[in-house]
Amino acid sequence: MKIGIIGSGNMGRSLGILWAEQGHEVFFGSRTTKKGKEVAEIAGQTTQGGSNDEAAAFGDVLLYTVRGVHPAEVFSSTSVIDNKILIDCNNQEISENFDYPAITQSLAEKLAAEVPNAKVVKAFNTMAQELFELAPIPLKNYNVSVFVAGDDESAKQTVIQLVQEIGFQAINCGELRHARLIESAGDLIRLLMIQQQMGSYATISVRSLPPAETQRLGGRQASNLK
Ligand SMILES: NC(=O)c1ccc[n+]([C@@H]2O[C@H](COP(=O)([O-])OP(=O)(O)OC[C@H]3O[C@@H](n4cnc5c(N)ncnc54)[C@H](OP(=O)(O)O)[C@@H]3O)[C@@H](O)[C@H]2O)c1
Repeated sequence: MKIGIIGSGNMGRSLGILWAEQGHEVFFGSRTTKKGKEVAEIAGQTTQGGSNDEAAAFGDVLLYTVRGVHPAEVFSSTSVIDNKILIDCNNQEISENFDYPAITQSLAEKLAAEVPNAKVVKAFNTMAQELFELAPIPLKNYNVSVFVAGDDESAKQTVIQLVQEIGFQAINCGELRHARLIESAGDLIRLLMIQQQMGSYATISVRSLPPAETQRLGGRQASNLK
């Protein structure tokens, strides 16, 4: 796959290197060509670097790490991302005392509204960069969930493949509007990491369990709550 990284900071550099290790063609984009090239040099392999415009033109899949910046400010023309898969890994800024407003429109939905011709998929916002350092092994042994949501089924399946290749477990969360819940999970995990001192390696994984052999507690009854 051809992957363009938009903003080569912590997330862009880490995911770009991991995908390049899996044999994908990766182009690191940045506000300055110099930085894009420097990151490609660190990443090595066959990666390239340059401007965000060049990264967007290069990739069929783009990782958008630029939180809250309208694509019209990032690219000379947003038409460069028409029909491309745009992975949104962003979380809102951590608010003082973790006192967040309720999410009624996720960052991913906002991005999709800004670039309606791109196929926006939410992924990779519920774990810290430190976890990527463990990928793909030993990370694979821990079944760490990446929650994936998007309205274009084929784009979502492509992202699920990219999630799994680097050692995470993809959880298909359905439509893009469910990114509101995924971004709230991102807020929760940062609360656990930062405020409650669980450390950088805290993350969220979903487990699916087999049913109990007996229902000695009476099983689930119809609820009469309104
Ligand atoms: N770090 C984590 O552990 C982590 C984990 C999960 C999710 N996230 C989320 O992922 C997103 C990126 O986080 P990060 O840690 O990668 O941040 P970061 O290291 O600061 O990288 C973000 C990049 O965005 C680019 N950028 C910043 N302002 C810009 C602007 N006005 N216009 C264009 N480009 C701009 C910069 O790239 P250039 O300097 O290359 O231009 C910068 O390096 C955030 O929304 C964060 O909440 C982060």
